[in-house]
Amino acid sequence: MTDKKPFYITTAISYVNGAPHLGHAYEQILTDTMARHKRLDGFDVMFLTGTDEHGQKVAKTAEREGMEPQAFTDKIAQKFIDMTDQLNISNDDFVRTTEPRHYEASKAIWNAIKTNNPDDIYLDKYAGWYSVRDEAYFGEGELTDARDADGNEHKLAPTGAPVEWVEESSYFFRLSAYADKLLELYTAHPDFIEPDARRNEIISFVKSGLQDISISRTNFKWGVPVPDDEDHVMYVWLDALTNYITGIGYPDTDSDSYQKYWPADFHVIGKDIIRFHCIYWPAFLMAAKLEMPKKVFAHGFINVNGAKMSKSVGNVIAPQDLIDLYGLDPTRYLLMREVPHGQDGNFSHEYAIQRINSDLANGLGNLSQRSLSMIYKNCEGQIPQIGALTDADKKLLNHAHDRMMVVVREECEKMKFNRALEAIFKLVIDANGYVDAQAPWTLKKEDPVRMETVLYVLAEVVRVLGIAMLPYTPESANKILDQLKIPANERDYSFISDEHMLKSGTEIDKPEGIFPRLDANDKAA
Ligand code: MSP
Repeated sequence: MTDKKPFYITTAISYVNGAPHLGHAYEQILTDTMARHKRLDGFDVMFLTGTDEHGQKVAKTAEREGMEPQAFTDKIAQKFIDMTDQLNISNDDFVRTTEPRHYEASKAIWNAIKTNNPDDIYLDKYAGWYSVRDEAYFGEGELTDARDADGNEHKLAPTGAPVEWVEESSYFFRLSAYADKLLELYTAHPDFIEPDARRNEIISFVKSGLQDISISRTNFKWGVPVPDDEDHVMYVWLDALTNYITGIGYPDTDSDSYQKYWPADFHVIGKDIIRFHCIYWPAFLMAAKLEMPKKVFAHGFINVNGAKMSKSVGNVIAPQDLIDLYGLDPTRYLLMREVPHGQDGNFSHEYAIQRINSDLANGLGNLSQRSLSMIYKNCEGQIPQIGALTDADKKLLNHAHDRMMVVVREECEKMKFNRALEAIFKLVIDANGYVDAQAPWTLKKEDPVRMETVLYVLAEVVRVLGIAMLPYTPESANKILDQLKIPANERDYSFISDEHMLKSGTEIDKPEGIFPRLDANDKAA
């Protein structure tokens, strides 16, 4: 048994109609950073991700590829599973919506809605517009007219996706009955939707009135069968959203994991799918008499050189391309440093190289390398003794042990990792300034005792930075801590304090560069 507080965080689950791209990678890294931050802060974290494998979009892509849907989704889902390894994602589970446990959970939530609110699901006929790309229904009023290259008129969804006219027998969910309850939820829990701009978008949408939604399809078969009516498959979004409870044991609501982790603390998603998460999902949960998640956090989109990533433009970046070019941790760092909270972020090769070199190679890497090399050479490879502390020493140590972490914690709670990193790199700059001002290389002859204290202070700051960087650049931060011989169970935030300073006399490893400097002439992404 653990007395740690639980923290449950999820990503959206990706459609398996194509290979993962930088946008998917960004969401994984963002969520992973939060999960790692929470673990370091003493929480018992459950981090779930997965793949969304049903629906017409996936079925159509499989057909185009001449494959059975199951064989096709097995192939693509594996690429998403592989991506979690490539990116060093610390997820605790991975739900594929084609797994038996997920069929069970999806059928159970359907039945829970029917049992608790029998009038909320009714059979009727759907006649209206459907966008396969978004797997979403749209009202006539939301569409725009467009002409294709051959001059044919057709209609487009607000997302720019083509729509098709659908008429079929369908079960409906009485979403219209939930508008007031949803508005009450947003009012009672003002941070249920973040950032505020998204919250306002959802509130005004709900205030404009909600229509009942179709929650089953009959003109294709690739989905979870509706309980007691196998002519229908469940609407892919009802199926997909349910993954968040599949992963913690639903329908066994008495299970340890469900009891511990539901309601989720954070659903991390992209800004394009807020309606599904902030309107449909809470309404389904209310109807099934399940608790509400605590927060939906919508991040922005990653653009490439100012343009939306798209296959037709040919600017889609595969996560592995960046890892090959910059290394994994610099790629992770870049994405967390460059994308402002909840906003779109732009990726450009030129800027990436500048950022990686200035912060990681010349900043943190150089600080750690020169501090530890001086110790290795001048202090017999051991953490030196600490003498009387000057004001400058105390100021730097206070920055490391107190001031930095106050800001880091505050910003991380809001997923403002760019700000948290800004705070961490203020310490790097401060410490690099301290090295120059104290000039330990001149103290070597003039005052070796003082030199030892200066080098001790520097090594201590490097230790703190090693711990603070664990969420962002886990492998490299661990290498820094390995060099300092910090035991694995001392690598968390509780060890950032005056009481847990480095032990003098500890033998350190021969320091090796952690962040290589990149050559700006490397091939552009
Ligand atoms: N399958 C649905 C989600 C179901 S969740 C119950 C879906 N899949 S997706 O593959 O299209 O997108 C997965 C996630 O990646 C979404 O949160 C989406 O917003 C995000 N991104 C897709 N492209 C993106 C960028 N270019 N940039 C950042 N995130 C983007 O939607």
